[in-house]
Amino acid sequence: MMTRETQGEKIQKVLAQAGVSSRRGAENLIRQGLVRVNGTIIDNPAIRVDPAKDVIECRGERLLYPSGKARGLILYKITGYVTSTGDPHNQKTVYDLLPKEERDKKWLYAGRLDRDTEGLLFFTDSGELVHRLTHPSYKVKKQYRVKVQGKPTAARLKLLVKGVRHQDRLMRMDRVQLMKTEADSAVLKVELHQGEKRQVKIMLGKLGHEVLYLCRTRFGPLSLKGLKPGQSRRLTEVEMDALIRGVLQQN
Ligand code: URA
Repeated sequence: MMTRETQGEKIQKVLAQAGVSSRRGAENLIRQGLVRVNGTIIDNPAIRVDPAKDVIECRGERLLYPSGKARGLILYKITGYVTSTGDPHNQKTVYDLLPKEERDKKWLYAGRLDRDTEGLLFFTDSGELVHRLTHPSYKVKKQYRVKVQGKPTAARLKLLVKGVRHQDRLMRMDRVQLMKTEADSAVLKVELHQGEKRQVKIMLGKLGHEVLYLCRTRFGPLSLKGLKPGQSRRLTEVEMDALIRGVLQQN
């Protein structure tokens, strides 16, 4: 059979490196019968595999990069582009902002930005990683710089952290900082992990502060540092490791 007990890499390590679980979590997944190697459910967490040759599946989904080689790209999105693989109204999409050689739909985006929002958009070729980066249970922090109409009081800013109800859901921010005030506007730095659709605009709008400008400045450990608006770059292995480590959890 394909699996070996002495050669290759430990299946637990391979699953962990692919961002599927922690090593201990991998053991649980195996015991629950959720891991297949070359089509066969395995029950021995000590088994070793060859990530380059063996077909490894977890919960029915093939690990794209079992050796932890998921690739990543970040884009400093500018306004006027929709976050979509194809727009029925022929609007320009974020893929149009990528360099020609990267304009490939294998790049999946993690976490949309509205057409009029700027900032950090992360792409990867790993569906599993997208799931983990966007599901609130993994608590990946996103940071935004927001310019709002009016000057929010300290009490209103506290409400953003306490929670604002919208369509039976409680939307919350983790941190809110007032950075500066102008004649009839203010600039805030906000941090959240929930990532509901249009969350920043909805929450501030509910408190009477229309969002005039929105830019995502951080996504987990990633920042826009070194990128100009409209530019993109591949992430290094070190950056990808940091990102994947942040979304490992016990299963
Ligand atoms: N919150 C919003 O309201 N819009 C975005 O694009 C991102 C977060």
